[in-house]
Amino acid sequence: MTQRIALYPGTFDPITYGHIDVIRRAAELFPRVIVLVARNSSKRPMFTDEERAAMIREVFRRHRRVEVDSFNGLLVEYARRRKATVIIRGLRAVSDFEYEFQMALTNRKLAPTIDTVFLVPHERYTYLNSTIVREVARLGGDVSGFVPPGVRRRLLAKAGL
Ligand code: COA
Repeated sequence: MTQRIALYPGTFDPITYGHIDVIRRAAELFPRVIVLVARNSSKRPMFTDEERAAMIREVFRRHRRVEVDSFNGLLVEYARRRKATVIIRGLRAVSDFEYEFQMALTNRKLAPTIDTVFLVPHERYTYLNSTIVREVARLGGDVSGFVPPGVRRRLLAKAGL
């Protein structure tokens, strides 16, 4: 297990304290964690791929186990290319399960040697998602309890505040 590379894919539009909690947990378990800004074809992100990756890099700039990248193709292709054998996903509530189960089994069908590992973020983050954070920022609410200061600044700039 010690040499395993884990991949944590997501839209990260933007990264929140909930994602950060999952990444920290993953970095305790795996020597290398690649946080991958990937494309969910049903979403139209507020931030570009580069902006989303830059925000994550800023948070983990001193964490040598964590690397940040972005990719627009099939997740398992990226995983194979980087020799990642584990896909990390966070499970916040039962409502996440069906979608996550479907993705995990699809990825397994496409790449049988890659396993999905589910991590449970701290319960203080179970209600969080990026849509809520964007909405609160857009309407002028305080997002400092949801995202790090650098992300908050970028959210305010996008919202024109
Ligand atoms: N804390 C807070 N929020 C969390 C969270 C956590 N720990 N974990 C997930 N979320 C939120 C996200 O912010 C996001 O919120 P939003 O919907 O408001 O934006 C939501 O939960 C789920 O997002 P995410 O984890 O980013 O998943 P996703 O569904 O957006 O992304 C991909 C899915 C990108 C991983 C998937 O589409 C993919 O693999 N794409 C690549 C192409 C591919 O291979 N497709 C086939 C996959 S089977």
